[in-house]
Amino acid sequence: MSRIAYVNGHYCPHNRAAIHIEDRGYQFADAVYEVCGIRGGKMLDEEAHLNRLDWSLGELQIPWPMARRALQVIMREVIRRNHIRHGMIYLQVSRGQARRTHAFSKHMTPSLVITATSTSRPQNAQTLPQAVSVITRPDIRWQRVDIKTVALLPNSLARHAAQEAGAREAWLIDGEGKVTEGSSSNAWIVDQQNRVHTHPINGRILNGTVRQALIRLAQKEGIEIIESPFTPEEAYNAKEAFLTSSNALVQPIDQIDGHKIGNGSQSEVSQQLWRAYYIENQIAP
Ligand code: PDD
Repeated sequence: MSRIAYVNGHYCPHNRAAIHIEDRGYQFADAVYEVCGIRGGKMLDEEAHLNRLDWSLGELQIPWPMARRALQVIMREVIRRNHIRHGMIYLQVSRGQARRTHAFSKHMTPSLVITATSTSRPQNAQTLPQAVSVITRPDIRWQRVDIKTVALLPNSLARHAAQEAGAREAWLIDGEGKVTEGSSSNAWIVDQQNRVHTHPINGRILNGTVRQALIRLAQKEGIEIIESPFTPEEAYNAKEAFLTSSNALVQPIDQIDGHKIGNGSQSEVSQQLWRAYYIENQIAP
């Protein structure tokens, strides 16, 4: 089955989808994006993704490429045309195409690209996926990582280092020696009192959509969340550690920089949060 992409008003075969070489997304990383999980044919946390897209576009003064409702219709159409049951949808909005010069005009037409990808069968309510390992790397990103731009080179380099080290993710360490987040995920630990720690929203991390959902669900579940930065040492001594993203959803971690986390197999709190997320989203196997 051939994949279909949406590019600036047209549905076209994925392998022929193209953007102009003078698109500012290509030349200046002047573009924002969203990755939205799909389970059972439905988008997860759709409103949170669109709200964050609105935030990212607003911070960069890029106009919406179309009305929010129209965008939602096209996203559904891309999912339908690609027959996606489980997977993800990728949406990118750049400032648009212009002769290369650093300053931009306020009157540009944004470029919009939407693609969708299938993934294999997702995790179920009972069991979290198998735990993965993480390494730490310096956080060398710019100071507006709260905007979801495509300027992901530092993230990509950190992730590559993780891969070279046989790990799944790199947790980024800021100048104060605190874990900010992962290269493409939010970072969490559970302390010995079963309290969950994750970095606050203060401009130094991306406000993850799964993060937002888990914080809301934790309240209902009676799980205490402490939105405060933690150090790698605190993470090494944690009872549990996990990461969240629209791709991985809730992913347990059993090793950080070679330190074994908890007893390696129990992840009660992560499991409880995952179950609550799964149930709320009516994720069908
Ligand atoms: N990344 N932090 C960073 C730096 C991210 O890139 C992501 C997501 C997250 C988690 O956000 P959310 O829960 O909304 O997916 C946190 C996506 C999946 C990506 O770049 O592919």
